Amino acid sequence: MRTAIYYFSGTGNSLKISQELAQGLHAQVCPIASAVKSKVINVDAEVVGIVFPVYFLDMPPIVHEFISKLNLKPDTYIFSIINFGGTAGNTLFNLDKLLRTKSMYLSAGFGLKMPDNSIIFATSPSEQQKMFRDANRKLIEISDMVKKRLYAGIEGKNSGAYPLVGKTTGFILERVLMVNKKSAKKHKCTGCGLCEEVCPVSNIQVSDNKVIWKDGCAQCFACIHWCPHNAVRYGFVSLNKKRTYRHPDITVKDIMKQKHANRL
Ligand SMILES: Cc1cc2nc3c(=O)[nH]c(=O)nc-3n(C[C@H](O)[C@H](O)[C@H](O)COP(=O)(O)O)c2cc1C
Repeated sequence: MRTAIYYFSGTGNSLKISQELAQGLHAQVCPIASAVKSKVINVDAEVVGIVFPVYFLDMPPIVHEFISKLNLKPDTYIFSIINFGGTAGNTLFNLDKLLRTKSMYLSAGFGLKMPDNSIIFATSPSEQQKMFRDANRKLIEISDMVKKRLYAGIEGKNSGAYPLVGKTTGFILERVLMVNKKSAKKHKCTGCGLCEEVCPVSNIQVSDNKVIWKDGCAQCFACIHWCPHNAVRYGFVSLNKKRTYRHPDITVKDIMKQKHANRL
């Protein structure tokens, strides 16, 4: 039984979840950031997993694009694991709805609470360790269910309030904190180019020690969290070491690879 796990990740949580799961399922781990470069994504695995972070109580736009291009065999077993810092919103339900527009559906949808890569709130180191332990336990259960191709349904509740809360949070970040206006602090930026390499959608260009953000940001926060000098500013927000988050088992090279890897 061929199993493919497609993931998108800014700070490593989704990649780590995918890697853990892939071990138990003998699955191939495939980056969504690379797959979406194709016009149509044909996958002939019998089991397909989709792993990604929640953004504003919903799917990241790149996951939406991935599903829109996805072509599977008619009886493919599809499951998803979303991960989030606090609240998942309707993400899994929205994913299922989108799949159904293409005559597919989610046989099982799970949520994992992982350290928040929020640029406002931080998850303390002790909370992080507890989350990792809980996630590992739950991943063993999920792996068993997926092996049996169980119809496990979708975790959580679909609520009409979530779209409004998600939009309001997005509005505050974009219009009040102006996080869409990204810049590199002159006194801290060395022009090393790591932000350009780590950006999963090639939205950053570094030349002559100048960093330029184009207008196709995937909102993943990779550039701000992986910058070795904490030189990146999102509008009025910049990070210090304490609020910087990167999954401890994932390297910057792992994140860089996600836009270059081949798909199934
Ligand atoms: C733009 C953005 C929006 C987010 N929105 C939410 C959210 O609505 N609810 C939540 O619980 N976490 C939210 N988060 C936190 C991430 O979902 C969480 O930290 C996730 O585990 C990060 O995964 P990654 O390390 O694979 O990028 C958001 C993160 C980003 C970057």
